Amino acid sequence: MRLGPPAEGPSRQRGRSSVLEDGGSSTLTALLRLLPPETAHTVGFWLIRVAGGVPGGVCVLRRLFAPCDPELRVRALGLDFPGPLGLAAGFDKDGHGAVALAALGFGFVEVGTVTARPQPGNPQPRMFRFPAERALVNRMGFNNEGAAALSARLRSLAWPRPVIGVNIGKTKAVPEDEAVADYVTSAHLVADAADYVVVNVSSPNTPGLRDLQAVEKLRPLLVAVRAALDEASPRRRVPLLVKIAPDLADEDIDAVAFMAVDLGLDGIIATNTTISREGLHDSAAVADAGPGGMSGAPLKARALEVLRRLHARTGDRLVLVAAGGIETADDAWDRLAAGATLLQAYTAFIYSGPLWPHRVQAELARRIRRDGQPGDTNA
Ligand SMILES: Cc1cc2nc3c(=O)[nH]c(=O)nc-3n(C[C@H](O)[C@H](O)[C@H](O)COP(=O)(O)O)c2cc1C
Repeated sequence: MRLGPPAEGPSRQRGRSSVLEDGGSSTLTALLRLLPPETAHTVGFWLIRVAGGVPGGVCVLRRLFAPCDPELRVRALGLDFPGPLGLAAGFDKDGHGAVALAALGFGFVEVGTVTARPQPGNPQPRMFRFPAERALVNRMGFNNEGAAALSARLRSLAWPRPVIGVNIGKTKAVPEDEAVADYVTSAHLVADAADYVVVNVSSPNTPGLRDLQAVEKLRPLLVAVRAALDEASPRRRVPLLVKIAPDLADEDIDAVAFMAVDLGLDGIIATNTTISREGLHDSAAVADAGPGGMSGAPLKARALEVLRRLHARTGDRLVLVAAGGIETADDAWDRLAAGATLLQAYTAFIYSGPLWPHRVQAELARRIRRDGQPGDTNA
């Protein structure tokens, strides 16, 4: 599950352009910063979709920015990833732009969180910037069009398509004692459309959701989702992962890790956002933002700690997907060296602009060529 060129197949060498890098990208990011955060997200995402929607647009973007260095390729979860860095869940909740987003340089895209029933999420404002700390606080509350709509959209995509994972959560209106059935409904709906499925029990913005991380609740939930995926997709085993919060106590992280191995789960995503505000210095802005999950740079240290702990408990028996505060090629390197096979980010994409995934993966490839694979003792 390490990075590197597969034994077979010629390496793809393509001409790359740096013309569009930095200048246009950073101007766009600066302009979007003038808008309220959720509006900026809507406009920025719309522009990405428009660029991908013009005839030949995705081909051009892919040619310029998609990862093509054989050193970056990853084989994991039975899938081929052109690069280890993916877009984390939450940016493209309803799968409207996965192809264009991958063409910008992400090695894969996780869409969702979707829920069994469509829901509006929390009232706005529900996303807040902390630019000095390169952090965000959000309490979106799983605003989404529902698992059925997402599934239909993904199934309509032309092949070949990028690796697309689907992240599922609990419908807010469903009582906690019906949570398993609600996840099972979503799993049935998305099984055919997803390259892998993630059970999200770690977002802080759906009341009671994070209580499902307790192993006595998590075990039956994961068993039921596994069965639903197998039933809905009898010919292809859909990989199943669970996404955990950085706020779990260390014993609870261990318990999830052991249970995941025991159940034959395919992987763990560590981590979601945190309810902590450690690292945010403007206490008035923190109070104004109110409740929600914090992401970005202040999450980096804890997310790395959780990853290291998981790796110490599970070794290579699970695919570990690192998320939380990844901003630079060095951050990517550190997570891979700590045992991650794949990486995800969201907040750095917001702060650093649309060409950020391309830049980080290009820099990571250069470092691998210079220093060897992350995790190698001589690297
Ligand atoms: C605005 C926003 C919305 C998010 N929505 C979701 C979501 O729907 N499901 C989910 O699993 N994670 C969601 N996340 C968490 C991210 O997927 C990621 O785990 C977290 O932000 C840490 O990564 P980062 O520091 O690179 O942003 C969201 C994050 C942000 C900033």
